[in-house]
Amino acid sequence: MLDMPRIRVAEVASFYTMINTEAVGKYLLQFCTTTPCWLRDSADVVDATEKHLGITFGETTEDGLFTMREVECLGACVNAPIVQINDDMYEDLTGPRMVEVLDALRAGDVPPHGPQIDRQTSAPVGGPTVLTNLDFAKS
Ligand code: FES
Repeated sequence: MLDMPRIRVAEVASFYTMINTEAVGKYLLQFCTTTPCWLRDSADVVDATEKHLGITFGETTEDGLFTMREVECLGACVNAPIVQINDDMYEDLTGPRMVEVLDALRAGDVPPHGPQIDRQTSAPVGGPTVLTNLDFAKS
């Protein structure tokens, strides 16, 4: 169909993690384990998921709901550790919070994505710590 050698297609498809070369579950769980996420204990999130679902990277649950995949930096390091679930980013995760997210998805709910702790986007926990007084702009 593309009128090119199969290897050219395979080269592209195997390079980009957003191209699936095999069927995946309803929820594709992409775990970032690159250094910033690893330093913020992405291993705890991965371990909790593996224990809870009984699968590991590259596998899909028997009910076809969840596929686990390990990926490189998802570009949201400031809110590490990160898991991308389909098109949504779940940030500031812990193992227990990841299990809650999985249970909600299995129940048919869609838990709120973004930071999973008390912070607005990527602002510090507890609110801004700089530029809190903008009076300097008047002088
Ligand atoms: S290292 Fe995980 S999002 Fe960048």
